[in-house]
Amino acid sequence: MGAGNPHAQVVFVGEAPGFHEDKEGVPFVGAAGKFLDEMLASINLNRSDVFITNMVHSRPPGNRDPEPQELDASWPYLAAQIQLVKPLVIVTLGRFSKAKFVPDAGPISRVHGQVFVRPNPATGDERQWYVTLYHPAAGLHQADLKAVIKRDFHSIAQALAAASATPITRP
Ligand code: URA
Repeated sequence: MGAGNPHAQVVFVGEAPGFHEDKEGVPFVGAAGKFLDEMLASINLNRSDVFITNMVHSRPPGNRDPEPQELDASWPYLAAQIQLVKPLVIVTLGRFSKAKFVPDAGPISRVHGQVFVRPNPATGDERQWYVTLYHPAAGLHQADLKAVIKRDFHSIAQALAAASATPITRP
């Protein structure tokens, strides 16, 4: 369902497991995951520093988009992960996690790489730092997007610095 450091400062939320993830029971182990690893390395992080999970925890047949009832069914598990890890920064990968956590953000083509402060629907905190990124799979097929995603990853370091300087006040 999720993998990585339970004390991570950064949680990545993707979409749903693909074929390889479904087989291994670990998020982002296929081609998109290799690219994610590369991006993490570029900001001096690796998988053991972060926590990686998905909006939906079972593979939608044929890799179709998750359906609303599947997103709803997975939400309590994702919310529990976020409550346990209590990250400083949540990184949304792709449109489904962006829609959940930063619903008022514009289209990803406009807001990719941006840092947002919004409520956290998992913890009830009023202020949570977010970075909205393209899904890494988008970079696999388009070389120019790959470069954009690489550049956008540096926003994570900026958000972490900002979040550390402004600790979240929890009720
Ligand atoms: N794409 C996702 O969104 N999540 C995975 O775990 C793998 C591919």
